[in-house]
Parts: sequence; structure tokens; C-alpha cells
Amino acid sequence: MDKLTVNDLDAQGKRVFVRVDFNVPLEDGRVTDDSRIRAALPTIRHLIGQGARVVLASHLGRPGGKVQDGLRLRPAGERLSQLLRRNVPVTGDALGVGTEDAVRRLRPGEVLLLENLRFHAAEEKNDPKFAEQLARYADVYVNDAFGTAHRAHASTVGIAKLLPAYAGLLMEAEIAALSKLLENPEHPYAAILGGAKVSGKLDVLRNLLTKVDVLVLGGGMANTFLLAQGRSVGKSLAEHDMVDEARRVLAEAEKRGIQVVLPVDVIVAKEVTRGTEYKTLPAEKIPASWHIVDVGKQTLALIDEALADVRTVVWNGPIGVFEIPVFGAGTRQVAALLADKADAGATVVVGGGDSVAAIQQQGLADRMTHISTGGGASLEFLEGRELPGVAVLLDREADAATTQPVPAAAKGSR
Ligand code: 3PG
Repeated sequence: MDKLTVNDLDAQGKRVFVRVDFNVPLEDGRVTDDSRIRAALPTIRHLIGQGARVVLASHLGRPGGKVQDGLRLRPAGERLSQLLRRNVPVTGDALGVGTEDAVRRLRPGEVLLLENLRFHAAEEKNDPKFAEQLARYADVYVNDAFGTAHRAHASTVGIAKLLPAYAGLLMEAEIAALSKLLENPEHPYAAILGGAKVSGKLDVLRNLLTKVDVLVLGGGMANTFLLAQGRSVGKSLAEHDMVDEARRVLAEAEKRGIQVVLPVDVIVAKEVTRGTEYKTLPAEKIPASWHIVDVGKQTLALIDEALADVRTVVWNGPIGVFEIPVFGAGTRQVAALLADKADAGATVVVGGGDSVAAIQQQGLADRMTHISTGGGASLEFLEGRELPGVAVLLDREADAATTQPVPAAAKGSR
């Protein structure tokens, strides 16, 4: 990676502000999926091991600049404390004298978590004053919040301009895995894109069209492509205003000799609800009042065949209405197929909430090459865009020579 990382930093005794992405799902005050917290552990442990004074900061949800008790970071702090086997206190607010005092009292190897940054509207506005207030807590900045690196906020961009700014180990791993999908991927290379909408993934599609050999389309977005092929999709989720774009994508794929796999048979349901009536039909025979909710067995066989010799796969987005278990078979089967591909030595990278959930539910996570903690961030990366939270970190070439180690004497003095 062309950015300096925590491995380039001597953090001994320093106050290190670490932006993490603890935007995790909660239920009844408990974290229901701690993957993002676990993913930040290597960086936190590395800094503790070096004897740094660690100030963690994150957002949770979208409170819109107001305090919302349901979006306090206490559950994340509790989970982190369990995982680290040490107490990580959470401040009552990201700012204020109490927090300043808590930071001042941090001893080497201790960790503190600031309260939800987005309780302050200034965070999302990348307000320079707010960034400055945060920067006062530390001598050095580390960004390990890959999932938020596409946001130009005070804690991801503003503060990084005020302190020597390094990438965390998760940030480094994410960038390495995702870069491999864009730079010199091993061929044959397949992209599997699902989820509801073409519109959110159009730029990813455009970029991946220049790289892949196989394109598998599933989920609601495949319905828009079926429309582009002149099929009717009944009452299925589809974007009628994206049909021309879908047609252009198909034409481009054909021009480039890319094999496109679209559903040839589908599960259709009377309603998109649990307990509804459903059946399998050929994709060209969708009744006007039914909804496509998953792919059928023939389509899964086609996917299997198209991926036979694959060496690289990127998967983002479910293949069917995965949240209703009876319509999740396509998604689950693709997850299992990709685990086999990874076992056989292919590079398999997965991003996006539901595709990752399908993998985790089936206990397949350890078999994949990389599971991204970023939703929007991984998509923007795959579009080929530079993420603002990454761009602002110190460059290895340009900055390594000029960056002076931060003097330990600076600690506690701001
Ligand atoms: C995410 O969950 O994608 C990140 O934490 C970013 O959250 P946001 O979309 O609310 O900025």
C-alpha cells in the first residue's frame, strides 16, 4: 500500500486518535453482529502493545446531529471490553471537559471510546473547529474505519489534516484485498452483483466491465436486466428508468466478450412476505401479478458452470429476497459455491450486508479470502474512486522522508 500504516509508527507513550467504524447493528441494547468491532482489534491490540494511549472514535447510525439514547456507543464499548478483556470506558460526549479530562488521565496501554461523533452535526459537516477539538486529544491519527472512508467528515478527513495520519491494519487489509480486484486480478475473473437496484451499482458495473470475464446478475437488479432483454417481470422490484442503462451494459459486455449470466428460471411469489404462495417458473413466463423473489435451480447450475475455472471472484449483493429464508436459497448456494472456490485457491472477496450475512449464517466466513467491512465504501472503491478518508493519509513515498516522529513530550500537553 502506498500509505503509511501503524507499522510505520512508534506509538510508545503517544496519544493516538483511532477512527474506527463501530456502526454495528443493535437489538435491545446489545450488538447483534460484532464483525466490525473484531475487525478493529488488530490495530487496537497493536497500539496497546506499543504502550500507546488509545482514544477510539466512531459514529453509530444517523442521529442527524442530535443525541439519541438508542444510538449511544455503550453496547459497542461493552463488546469491545469483552473482546479485549479490559475495561474500555465510553465518554458521555465526544467533547467537553469531562472527556478532555478522561483523555488526559489515560495511561500507556489504556483505551477510551468517545461517544457517538454524529451527536454533533459538525462531524458530518467536516467542520474545521470540530476537527480541531478532536485533534487536541492526540499526537497522532490512525484511520481504521474503512467502512466510513468514503465520507469526508471531521473525524475521517478534517482531523487527518491536523495530525500525522496513518492507516490502521484493517484499512490496510481492505485496501490490499480490494485493490487486487482492480489491479492485475488473476483470470478468469467473475463479478457477482445482486441486491435491489442497478442505479446504486451502475458505476461499479461500468468499472468491472473493463476487468471481468464473467458477470452474474441477481437480485432485484437482475429484473431490470430482464426488462432490458424484452422480458416482463410482473410486479417484481425493477427500475424502469434504468432499462436503457441496463441495455447499454449488456451491449458493452457483448462487445468485450464477457459472459453474462442472467436468471433463466426464477422463484415467483404472490407477495414478498413470509408464508406466501410461491413456485418456480421460466424467466420468460412471469405472470403479471407475481413477484420474482429468487433464482431457480437451472440458473444456479448456470452460475456453477460459468464459475467453473474462476481464479478471482467479487460478490456484492444478495441473489434473492434473502431476508425471507425460503427465498434465500440462491444467495446461500452462491455463498457455499464461493467457499468451495476459495478452498480451491481462487481469490474470493465479498462485500455488502446481505451477502456477508449469508456467509456468516452458514459459518463460511473463514473460508473466504476477504470479507469487506465496508458497504458503501467498498462499492465506491470498486468504482475506481479514491476514498477521501484514504487520500488524506500520509503517502509512503512523499511523506515517509519528511514525517518526523512525534515527540513523546507532546503527550498530554494539548
Ligand atoms: C456504513 O455502515 O456503511 C458506514 O458505517 C457508513 O455509514 P453511513 O452510510 O451512515 O455514513
